Amino acid sequence: FNSFSLVRPLVEFIMNTQSTTVYRASILNFQSDPYPIVDGEAVLDSSAYQFYQDGALVIEDGKVQHVGEAHDVLSTLPSDVEIVEYKDHLIIPGMIDTHIHYPQVEVIASYGEQLMDWLNNYTFPAEGQFEDKAYASNIANFFLDELLKCGTTTALVFGTVHKQSVEAFFEASEQRNTRMICGKVMMDRNAPDFLCDTPDASYDDSKSLIDTWHNKGRQLYAVTPRFAITSTHEQLQKAEQLLQEYPDVYMQTHISENKDEMAFVAELFPQAKDYLDVYDQYNLLGKRSVFAHGIHLNKREHQRLHETGSSVSFCPTSNLFLGSGLLDIQELEQNQVAYSIATDVGGGTSFSMLQTLSEAYKVTQMKGNKLSPLKSLYLATLGNAKTLQLEDKIGSFKTGNEADFVVLDFNSTAIMSLKQSKCKTLAEKLFAMIILGDDRAVEATYVAGTCVHKRDGK
Ligand code: GUN
Ligand code: ZN
Repeated sequence: FNSFSLVRPLVEFIMNTQSTTVYRASILNFQSDPYPIVDGEAVLDSSAYQFYQDGALVIEDGKVQHVGEAHDVLSTLPSDVEIVEYKDHLIIPGMIDTHIHYPQVEVIASYGEQLMDWLNNYTFPAEGQFEDKAYASNIANFFLDELLKCGTTTALVFGTVHKQSVEAFFEASEQRNTRMICGKVMMDRNAPDFLCDTPDASYDDSKSLIDTWHNKGRQLYAVTPRFAITSTHEQLQKAEQLLQEYPDVYMQTHISENKDEMAFVAELFPQAKDYLDVYDQYNLLGKRSVFAHGIHLNKREHQRLHETGSSVSFCPTSNLFLGSGLLDIQELEQNQVAYSIATDVGGGTSFSMLQTLSEAYKVTQMKGNKLSPLKSLYLATLGNAKTLQLEDKIGSFKTGNEADFVVLDFNSTAIMSLKQSKCKTLAEKLFAMIILGDDRAVEATYVAGTCVHKRDGK
């Protein structure tokens, strides 16, 4: 008599029903780019996404188990399965921000300067405070709560030069079980002494952070030379060495954001072909390398980014706020340069990816092009996940993916509600959500199947 064989199905049944929850709402999910380039033109591929007007998202043990029409999905599940209804709401995968500085929370909305003066007058003094770990922890907690409030569940994040700033950040992220990528800034010149490390110290601190945090739970590490201006030749060699020793970590930096910045780089690296070539000489390009801004890149740089599978992170609110310029995403598309979308707070002016998409639309208008609502929401979810090589974990509701998702409210404000009542098509409804939406449109945010934010503390 084997009592285990009798008990086990019962135990499994109880465990399954306890850990399975169905979320019922409209659901939008991408499987690929809805506007791939065909013969040089972006053409709609309607098989790239699924939209369920009355959909059901089945979550089991923090992972996506299934997504489909509510009618079909519910008929396959036990009648007592827990169902959470979000009527008149839209569920999308958790949004992803591919470039943001957590220590710049308080730098947001600093008046009157372009990049170099903005760094010297506002940003560097603010970052100096992160030597104090308690200060860093406080801001890291604020920052993560702000992201979750806006429906962003993953970000590629700059710390400061201080090792403890990144420890504070990962500890705060670990507490929330969010999938975050962060790195200690490497900078050893052209900045105040209190923000400068040395090639050796930056190597040692980065290495120790990688050993402790990379792939610890959901945390991932990014080697983070701030930009060419603030690193010596010796320090860029250390960044190269780190990437050689740890081939699966990320690399994040800035490039070609501002004309004065570019002129300074040309002066500091007279032997380089162009700005990207500075990083290329130290083998910092690759499919886990993310270059923020890239507004003023030349044809050769586009070609090299394409060849190496590197990506550009488009930060529209920052580029407008700092007067940096208008990125031409159509040019990136035509040159097959991978790109993602990001807030760049504190140069950027909002934590909300919806607001960021709205500004991306306007920048693209200024370039005489269109950024469609489907493409926009693809970018904020699966598109951004792909540039981070994370599409097998986040960014869509593929079975087995980590269940990070956001519940958006079509009636979050009076004007959103009025506009939605006039929209006839899905594209119109999504566009109104993007243009009029912000943190108020985020009804709830879930991380690995757990609700981590409810609007109005409901
Ligand atoms: N370039 C170097 N550092 C920074 C930064 O902190 N913000 C922005 N926007 N650009 C940079
Ligand atoms: Zn930045």
